[in-house]
Amino acid sequence: MNAIEKVANSERYARCVQTSKRVRWDIEEDVIRGRRFDAAHKFLPDGLSLTDAFTSLTADEKRFVSQIQGRTYANVFGLVERFINAKVLELSHEHWFGDQVALEALVRFSDEELKHQALFRRIDAMVGEVLPDGYRFDIDPNAVARAVLGKSTWAVLALTLDIELFTQLHYRQSIEPDSQLSELFKDVFLYHWKEESRHAILDELEWVRHDAGLTAEQRDRAIDEFIELVVAVDGILQAQAKADTGYFVAKCGRTVRQAEEHAIEDAFLKAYRWQYIHSGAQHPHFGKVLSSLITENQGQRIQAALATLH
Ligand SMILES: [Fe+2]
Ligand SMILES: [Fe+2]
Repeated sequence: MNAIEKVANSERYARCVQTSKRVRWDIEEDVIRGRRFDAAHKFLPDGLSLTDAFTSLTADEKRFVSQIQGRTYANVFGLVERFINAKVLELSHEHWFGDQVALEALVRFSDEELKHQALFRRIDAMVGEVLPDGYRFDIDPNAVARAVLGKSTWAVLALTLDIELFTQLHYRQSIEPDSQLSELFKDVFLYHWKEESRHAILDELEWVRHDAGLTAEQRDRAIDEFIELVVAVDGILQAQAKADTGYFVAKCGRTVRQAEEHAIEDAFLKAYRWQYIHSGAQHPHFGKVLSSLITENQGQRIQAALATLH
């Protein structure tokens, strides 16, 4: 890195610290504000829940699907933020005796992800108050975090930037005018986005900084690990699509035959792959940063792997 780039990066870390102080919010005072969920509302917007793909369902059943997906949204974020935070704390070591503003930016990032996990636990419990019993999310965030952190930092940062960029798209979806959408869930998207948009800047700074220290062989191996991580995320999504279909079928109040159940499971998986894999992978900025670090051939390897997840 040359001296001009170093100064530019220092300024970006400093701006992240300033914005972190300015937008800081509180779970109860700013997001929840004494409200409760109402089962008359959708929790996820149609652009995320892809309710059009659930072709056999009535409007009321589609609303129930968006509520199940909303609860899963809270659980998936609670899960990914466990490993993101651990990686951020690990990376902060590299700034301990260096740029103290960069260190502060990462400490704040970590503090925010801990708060977000608390927010999503709270949302999961609040959704549980208004939906029927029987919902399951059996994936252990600590076990996932241990497995993810077993991969190289390059691979983990690639996945992290992907995730933190798609929360921005999720926020944009949630602000589409939709009178059926829960105001409380809209605020979850809004407040999460306020802090996530800066996390994506920090992910990119750390990823590019880390990348500069790798050999071509290390990077090539890391690309395989990134693909392995995306495939592992897909495994989680497949398991949850199955669990959420089982819950829907058990609680929707009518008999669902096997062929329809399979179609519902496919639609859940399609929605989850869109939410947690493709909406990030197709994000223009993710593509831009990724392609600046890898060869065309390596990019094709990643695209070929993503194409299998449809
Ligand atoms: Fe977050
Ligand atoms: Fe984040």
